[in-house]
Amino acid sequence: MKVKKILAMGIFLCTCVYLLGACGKEQPAETEKLYLGVACYNQSDTFLGELIDSLKKQVNDIGGDRFETTLALRDAVGSQRTQDDQVKELIDAGCNVLCVNLVERADPSEIIDLARENDVPIIFFNREPVPEDLMQWDKLYYVGADAKQSGKMQGELTADVIQADSQIDRNGDGKIQYVVLEGEQGHQDAIIRTENAVNTLKSKGIVLEKLSYRIANWNRAQAQNQMEQIFSQYSNKIELVLANNDDMALGAIDAYEKSNLTKSAFPVFVGIDGTDVGLQAVADGKLAGTVYNDKEGQAEAMAKLAAVLVSGEGMDKIKFENDKYIYLPYRKIVK
Ligand code: GAL
Ligand code: CA
Repeated sequence: MKVKKILAMGIFLCTCVYLLGACGKEQPAETEKLYLGVACYNQSDTFLGELIDSLKKQVNDIGGDRFETTLALRDAVGSQRTQDDQVKELIDAGCNVLCVNLVERADPSEIIDLARENDVPIIFFNREPVPEDLMQWDKLYYVGADAKQSGKMQGELTADVIQADSQIDRNGDGKIQYVVLEGEQGHQDAIIRTENAVNTLKSKGIVLEKLSYRIANWNRAQAQNQMEQIFSQYSNKIELVLANNDDMALGAIDAYEKSNLTKSAFPVFVGIDGTDVGLQAVADGKLAGTVYNDKEGQAEAMAKLAAVLVSGEGMDKIKFENDKYIYLPYRKIVK
């Protein structure tokens, strides 16, 4: 009996001491939940894969004491239908911000309707919706880069490479015979990059002759295949391969390396993105240059914007273009 009393007294005293101690301390601010739903058009895309890795890291870093962060990732593997379903699932699961990399960039209406009905803001990224769609609701944003700038930079660095080496014009006709490997049809980064690269080269005084133009959908294997088809027609006549991204430039290099052409008959290859393999190819001297697509900057902008959207604080500190757009600058990379 006595023992029980002493024990009870002890527990009581301990509790008092604990409570007194707690009173003096400041209570930590309540953590907010950032539950980010990320919908990706196709994760096997090299640049996209690296961008998503970067986003995971950024979201994790932004957490700290302030946020409890969770990221749910879905891969639509090239189907808009699948992506629409995945976005619905993400919303049902309780995501409070969405990052959407549309499959069909002209077809976001279903996703926008779903998000609006549930009041979940969307940060579109990498595949830019048309302005009319972004105007459909005030909680829609876009994070990406300016396609025109990447094309221009690709043209500039290619002009520098050509002007520095007269041997690139192998047949000495004063013109550069070239082929273009283009990304997906209808993608903002395909036509605009090509147009601006070609126009910039011309404006720098390079005379061009287009031999062929192929769509290879950002994909290395498709680019290799397309290049092999071009070979039969133009074999050693090509002096420049302008590719809308690094993976397609690397696919073209794969085709040349498998051919029986000697290195001296290889054209100049240029890409865009600065993926890990792309940068390695520049370092190895296989790619004459690339244009860095700032995936870390894009990922950071997305994570920060998501945090602001959830907390409702700091919107005034984000620099938007036209209230909704965040564009990260490209930069030129040569060896
Ligand atoms: C581009 C990038 C390509 C591809 C594409 C996917 O910005 O340069 O390599 O990833 O996005 O939408
Ligand atoms: Ca020539």
